[in-house]
Amino acid sequence: MDTSQLAKFYKKSHLEKINALEAAGVINAEDAENLRRDQLDLSKETGDHMIENYLANYSLPFGVAMNFIIDEQEMVVPMAIEEPSVIAAASFAAKIIASSGGFTTAVSDRLMIGQVTLKGIDDLPAAAETVLSHKEAILSRANEAHPSIVKRGGGAKNMDVRLLSEDDSDSPTFLSVHLHVDTKEAMGANIINTLMEGIAPYIEELTRGTALLRILSNYSTECLATSTCTIPVSKLSTPQFSGDVVRDRIIEATQIATVDPYRAVTHNKGIMNGVDAVVVATGNDWRAVEAGVHAYASRSGQYRSLTKWTKNEAGDLVGTLTLPLPIGTVGGSIGIHPGAKLAHAILGHPTAKQLESVLASVGLAQNFAAVRALVTEGIQKGHMGLHARSLAISAGAKGEQVQRVADRLKEAPHKNLAAAKDILNNLDK
Ligand code: MEV
Repeated sequence: MDTSQLAKFYKKSHLEKINALEAAGVINAEDAENLRRDQLDLSKETGDHMIENYLANYSLPFGVAMNFIIDEQEMVVPMAIEEPSVIAAASFAAKIIASSGGFTTAVSDRLMIGQVTLKGIDDLPAAAETVLSHKEAILSRANEAHPSIVKRGGGAKNMDVRLLSEDDSDSPTFLSVHLHVDTKEAMGANIINTLMEGIAPYIEELTRGTALLRILSNYSTECLATSTCTIPVSKLSTPQFSGDVVRDRIIEATQIATVDPYRAVTHNKGIMNGVDAVVVATGNDWRAVEAGVHAYASRSGQYRSLTKWTKNEAGDLVGTLTLPLPIGTVGGSIGIHPGAKLAHAILGHPTAKQLESVLASVGLAQNFAAVRALVTEGIQKGHMGLHARSLAISAGAKGEQVQRVADRLKEAPHKNLAAAKDILNNLDK
């Protein structure tokens, strides 16, 4: 990638941005032409095949976050998001973090979990023993249910059992059989559901119970990605505060988000601003990622901050974020949606593990940007600066009026829709 083409990217016109991405080698000529011709939408025919009762496409702005260096590789990160400040904040944070080496990531094996949960078993401990003693037979039956994933080197790799009580008491009611499945490049929902439905009759036979549920778990605790960054205090100072003060404030703010769920939810929402935007852009299932991430934030029994910010011996600020990331690079809408295909191309067609690294790094960058702003100048200055254009459009501004209204709104005492309408009505007076 020739990053010299991407300097001051945000200042370029729409066409210049597309040309720069092409010149930098981020996108090829065909993708650039599709962007110039505004051809990122699903066709009506594809939309109609994808869902029941299809009416139209519902669009989100699709853009790129800049300045990311992840595991020593420069990356341009595609995002689909309606919130005005997310891409700007991610790019800002990534620039500071890139100037001190970028993000370093570690990704676990990608094992997804499926559950067959049974009821009506008289002797649950004995049934659990029986299931465990038939582990190899169950794994083979699971793999026979989906030969193509086995051919690709994946499939069911392990099994365990859990006894569940209906009311959190000590006396169990249900038996849950977990398969741990390597879904390779896929998120794997369909693969796992096929496996679970495939083994359920055999498990019913073994336990004499009834399989009530046969489905994947979106709590993918064996598919984790961690991103870390180290930022020297010299990169943290603002006109108001020294670098040491900003560092300590970021650490304190994260301590608050670790002990207070009211703050933790907002803190983690800021992380997910970036993560979701990339998950959506790459055609992945953001509901699965969201559900799993928030369960992971509660794994201690209390909902807590997902990031940790500390200082090392040199006094640098060190950030870490670990997320469960059940995403894929094949399957679902990924090969169908033109926007998702472009997003994968922009990322250089990453493997699922590499995409996990990007997601964890984007989440860490987004959190750094948000918390740094909160503990220094506050969030509204940057946020409202970018929100001004949306307000101008809501007020009815068209073409070059949008920027003119936005510019005046930034200076106005009240930055709201009424003020935007007032400015628009008086624009040329
Ligand atoms: C806004 O979308 C996200 C923030 O509220 C996150 C945070 O408070 O950390 C700014």
